[in-house]
Amino acid sequence: MSSISSGRRAPKWIAAACVAACCVVPAAQVAVATATAAADAGAVQDVSWLFPLNPPGVIAAKPSSSSLVHLPNSLLGFTEAQLTDLYFAPDWHPESHAPMPEIVLRGRAPGTYACGYCHLPSGAGRPENAALAGLPAAYIVQQVTDIKSGARRSAWHGEAYRPVDLMREVAANVAATDLAAAAEYFAAQPLQTRVTVIEVARIPRVAVMGWIYAIDPRGGEEILGQRLIEWAPDPSRHEHRDDEMRYNAFVPPGSVRRGREIATMGVAGQVASCSSCHAEHLQGAGLIPPLAGRSPSYLLRQLVAFQTKDRAGSGAAPMQAVAAALDMTDMIAVAAYAAGQSPMRPSKQPHF
Ligand code: HEC
Ligand code: HEC
Repeated sequence: MSSISSGRRAPKWIAAACVAACCVVPAAQVAVATATAAADAGAVQDVSWLFPLNPPGVIAAKPSSSSLVHLPNSLLGFTEAQLTDLYFAPDWHPESHAPMPEIVLRGRAPGTYACGYCHLPSGAGRPENAALAGLPAAYIVQQVTDIKSGARRSAWHGEAYRPVDLMREVAANVAATDLAAAAEYFAAQPLQTRVTVIEVARIPRVAVMGWIYAIDPRGGEEILGQRLIEWAPDPSRHEHRDDEMRYNAFVPPGSVRRGREIATMGVAGQVASCSSCHAEHLQGAGLIPPLAGRSPSYLLRQLVAFQTKDRAGSGAAPMQAVAAALDMTDMIAVAAYAAGQSPMRPSKQPHF
């Protein structure tokens, strides 16, 4: 099977994160749809829209490192230098999670960046990486091991998608004891869903900023088509790593209903229901990860990676078979449905 192709040119990586609230550029400039004809039965598809790159030229001038940045929902403040330090996880809401182990808060130099910098202290994750809260600890260890060995790769083979490159670096460097501590910590944190799924055919024009979309401040509209666009309503809170901010995801009309069908009944004669393995409401079972309430663009990137067999870790075989039988419409549908489910496992429900 061919891999996904891209017609884009390599960008220059400039900084770990774009820190300016207003640094958005039109999606069309950086996520040009390279209409690649499928050579054989849908084997090659253009999914560049699923990997919004951090465009060069939008990084603000180096910010002052002395003044404190604040968020509307936290009494704390951090400097811009702290907010862009890969060896530090800014913790806006310490009350929302257990105390972080050192590896999650500060990582270990050289090469093991703080897990909490990207996946956030609560493990809620951001759309360009992954939610880790509530994943089974053994699954976390296995995935990092698979990323290290190269068995698990991203479906994106175009120019550098920096978050994944950095995760690979972490996987290559992390010590076994640190990984175990991080896995145990994230497995014990409850996942809060942070996304609202919106079915719509025409969307406000979107622009790429810091690995995610925002509404283009210049206005205008575009056709969603067969895409799932997850975007930050407040780009500044996204950039400052607010773990309470909610994202929105535009999906084509009818997606959630179709997704529910696939999740609960499968595709006749081809795919078992997702819930037969991921459990009712997709909250996960045993070592099989939960899907409920997680970022739909993350879930979709993984489905594509199983389909292209870029994700071929030790537990990937059943998912490769599932994804082979789904087309993009179905994958978007089921990712949208899963994202809208409550992430809480029944056993973790509070009792009153
Ligand atoms: C620089 C950002 C960054 C840092 C730091 C980072 N990760 Fe990741 N991580 C990512 C990205 C991006 C992905 C998604 C990879 C993909 O799409 O295949 C990811 C994926 C994962 C996954 C797979 C989740 C799943 O649901 O399958 C695990 C597990 C993980 N990271 C664990 C860790 C641990 C443990 C640490 C700290 C030792 C860490 N990460 C540090 C960016 C990061
Ligand atoms: C036969 C059992 C089985 C079925 C059916 C199944 N899954 Fe999975 N799924 C798994 C396993 C096992 C994994 C972990 C794969 C690994 O270790 O790499 C997984 C992983 C995933 C992941 C990656 C999650 C992450 O954290 O990165 C996604 C997304 C996913 N499944 C979606 C689905 C959807 C959608 C369906 C239904 C269309 C489905 N699965 C049906 C067994 C199954």
